[in-house]
Amino acid sequence: MGARKKITVVGAGNVGATAAHWLAAKELGDVVLVDIVEGVPQGKALDLAQAAPVEGFDVRMTGANTYDDTADSDVVIITAGLARKPGMSRDDLLKTNAGIVSQVVDECVKRSPNSILIIVSNPLDAMCQVALRRSGFPKHRVIGMAGVLDSARMRCFLAEALDVSVENVTAFVLGGHGDTMVPLPRFSTCAGIPITELLPKDQIDAIVKRTAGGGAEIVSLLKTGSAYYAPSAAAVEMTESILKDKKKILPCAAYLEGEYGINGLYVGVPCKLGARGLEQIIEINLTAEERIALHKSASAVQELVDVLGL
Ligand code: NAI
Ligand code: 2OP
Repeated sequence: MGARKKITVVGAGNVGATAAHWLAAKELGDVVLVDIVEGVPQGKALDLAQAAPVEGFDVRMTGANTYDDTADSDVVIITAGLARKPGMSRDDLLKTNAGIVSQVVDECVKRSPNSILIIVSNPLDAMCQVALRRSGFPKHRVIGMAGVLDSARMRCFLAEALDVSVENVTAFVLGGHGDTMVPLPRFSTCAGIPITELLPKDQIDAIVKRTAGGGAEIVSLLKTGSAYYAPSAAAVEMTESILKDKKKILPCAAYLEGEYGINGLYVGVPCKLGARGLEQIIEINLTAEERIALHKSASAVQELVDVLGL
């Protein structure tokens, strides 16, 4: 085993392959890309490896249809899953992806028992619950990506509205990854100034609405698939914070046991990510209205988890 970190990405589709690209470009570690489709992970890994001399990154890229090359990964990013097809109900998709995520988790944890799992497959919060139960890992090593994406969308819209650098803008989004997510304007800032001081309410309301519908907006444009540049960048920011022990506070899907008054469920909350995975859940005081919105969002996640009997 080399000195570099090792990251497995399962699912070499749009999100997985693009995540592999960001991981390599940032030289975060050697990358193993796994998919069931023969040739695709191998081809994409080889293509990325051939970009290395041009871009100047020194990491090993491997593609595979089996899991042996994934052994001893530090982080495993799971993007495997199906998109909803015509005639398929939401529950059918839920059960199909739960089956895929279970199988992937079994293969990965056997070979990388000390890894940290970052779940991306949808429906996100329910798939985290599947991965937690199936892996038998402690909750700090099974984390879901959604909030970084949702808040990045909000930051992008806010920066545009304020005509400032995206780097000046932070945004906070709580709750499940779906229409019931809870963007929090009063914790969203531009250079430390709450955006509620800088933008009129109607404009903030419009940005909050656009953020909650951010995934659907991209689907309606792409037509044949969903977003992948921002989702993969978000999963890689989480990976980087873990591998470099940066201890960034990022909104992630975390298994709550009483925090925010929610018990036994994955919901998006502010998390500190470091070498041990999810190192701390940050609890902030919510207004009554925000709390109701968060609990409504948690109920939507609970419904899916109930369908799966978890
Ligand atoms: P995609 O269809 O491009 O890629 C999915 C890949 O998974 C395909 O290459 C497929 O062959 C592979 N796959 C299916 N079953 C597998 C198995 N058993 N083992 C290994 N690989 C398997 O889809 P895309 O756009 O990459 O999205 C992936 C997932 O991520 C979807 O469930 C999507 O809804 C979700 N997603 C979640 C986001 C979030 O915020 N949490 C954001 C964007 C996407
Ligand atoms: C998104 O938010 C589809 O969950 C995915 O773009």
